[in-house]
Amino acid sequence: MFNKRLVDCRLVISVVYFLFSFLLPSVSVMAATANHSLPEPVTDEEYRQHSDEKIKLGQLLFFDKELSGNRNISCATCHSPVIATVDGLSVNIGTGGQGLGVLRNAGNFPSTVNDPQSRGIRNMTPLFNLGHQSFTTLFWDGRVQVDETIPQGFLTPAGDILPFGFDSPLAALSIFAQTDIQEMTGQPGTNELADASLIAPHEPVWEGIMNRLRAAPEYVDLFTEAFDDIDHDPARMSIVHLGNALGAFQDVAFRADNSPFDRYLRGDSHAMSQNAKRGMRLFYGRAGCSSCHSGVFQTDHDFHAIGVPQVGPGFGDGESGLEDFGREGVTGEIHDRYKFRTPSLRNVFLTGPWGHDGFFNSLELMIRHHLDPLNSLFNADPTQLVLPSRPDLDAVDLLAFNNNEITAAIAQAIEIETPKNFSDKNIKYLLDFLQALTDPSAQDLRKSVPNRVPTDLPLAEIR
Ligand code: HEC
Ligand code: HEC
Repeated sequence: MFNKRLVDCRLVISVVYFLFSFLLPSVSVMAATANHSLPEPVTDEEYRQHSDEKIKLGQLLFFDKELSGNRNISCATCHSPVIATVDGLSVNIGTGGQGLGVLRNAGNFPSTVNDPQSRGIRNMTPLFNLGHQSFTTLFWDGRVQVDETIPQGFLTPAGDILPFGFDSPLAALSIFAQTDIQEMTGQPGTNELADASLIAPHEPVWEGIMNRLRAAPEYVDLFTEAFDDIDHDPARMSIVHLGNALGAFQDVAFRADNSPFDRYLRGDSHAMSQNAKRGMRLFYGRAGCSSCHSGVFQTDHDFHAIGVPQVGPGFGDGESGLEDFGREGVTGEIHDRYKFRTPSLRNVFLTGPWGHDGFFNSLELMIRHHLDPLNSLFNADPTQLVLPSRPDLDAVDLLAFNNNEITAAIAQAIEIETPKNFSDKNIKYLLDFLQALTDPSAQDLRKSVPNRVPTDLPLAEIR
């Protein structure tokens, strides 16, 4: 209904402009540019349809620690429903960690025994709106991507052993945290999935997970209800079904397109405050944000180097093994070094710390970084990092950060053009706009939590 009204209203406006354009050409050009820079509102047709049974199965899998080697971590441990699908840390603490959110610590075990308990490599990406058809490239470095030249349809870290039949990039991505030693699999010697990873990194682990689920009669029933081709035969349950169910759940549970900004785009001119509107005009105009954060989800789905300082264990890139080359790690192209995917800014007020390694613990500092990246990089304050302390892990946290050569190379790659003379007031307006990207439902996603999971493993971390 809003949509229709908006269309009608746009029609009237464009007719008026058309008439005026004969009289006042310069005014009409200005107005048209201002109009064009705002995106169209999101519609339901731009998302996929999923059956209730598939969504229900995906929900149970998302919260079930059975998917992790030592049955001590689920997708939701990191992608928490009470912290807007992230964990609030700069970089995550995976399997073997204790506690939730910013209280999560790495435990006291040596990092090579039992679970790895090391730090993760990158800041958590939130899960909002990823089922929307425009999200064809996922992860900070785009290592999961729709690719029509590949028979399976997707580029992923599994290369040509990726099975066929995933519904979406989100579904294909959803089978990879389970094969990550630090995130979910655990250390070889501690469980059968981790041992299977010694044979090959993906397939034997996926098979191990499916064997666990095949042995649980409740899951066999749930898979049968969700998919036509299983019919109570556990042997037919596959990792593709698992990915598709997880993808369906995340698509529906974490859809967030009812922010004040969305309501404004749908025609409710009072949905946003005056200051948020000022911020929006700056964002899609003079501040230049939308040259990268474009479209309705504030992302061009492309990669840019903006000089966020590097901390933490890194991706293992470079001579030091402590760097994160970002997109280059996927394409092998040196011109992609230090480029990361432009993040969507939906619910960004709720998803700090910010940046690919969670360096910035203040949204204002994150914005100011864009305005003067060199100054921000060279004068960055590492005390803002949210990394629960443990002596052996602390030792690596700042090695890359304190390495002048690495910092100089990151600076060299910066490609951002910064707006000149940007006042504090304007930064405040931008913050007001970013706040207007918050969907109220994202503040508390506890309704997405099931009462129990089929394996009856505990849902939350207990210290
Ligand atoms: C140990 C913490 C951890 C666990 C457990 C975890 N994730 Fe993640 N997830 C991350 C991090 C960190 C990233 C970003 C990594 C990157 O981009 O390189 C991420 C990224 C993602 C993304 C991509 C979002 C985007 O915008 O590109 C999806 C989808 C996702 N995870 C789903 C899942 C699912 C489904 C599970 C359970 C099977 C899961 N995750 C388990 C930490 C975790
Ligand atoms: C040249 C492209 C580009 C421009 C222009 C740009 N950004 Fe960014 N932005 C990025 C990239 C890339 C990242 C992630 C970089 C990283 O972590 O290494 C990012 C990160 C962010 C983040 C952190 C999001 C998160 O989830 O961690 C915010 C907030 C942000 N930008 C806001 C803005 C605002 C406001 C403007 C305008 C003043 C702007 N950006 C201009 C490319 C851009």
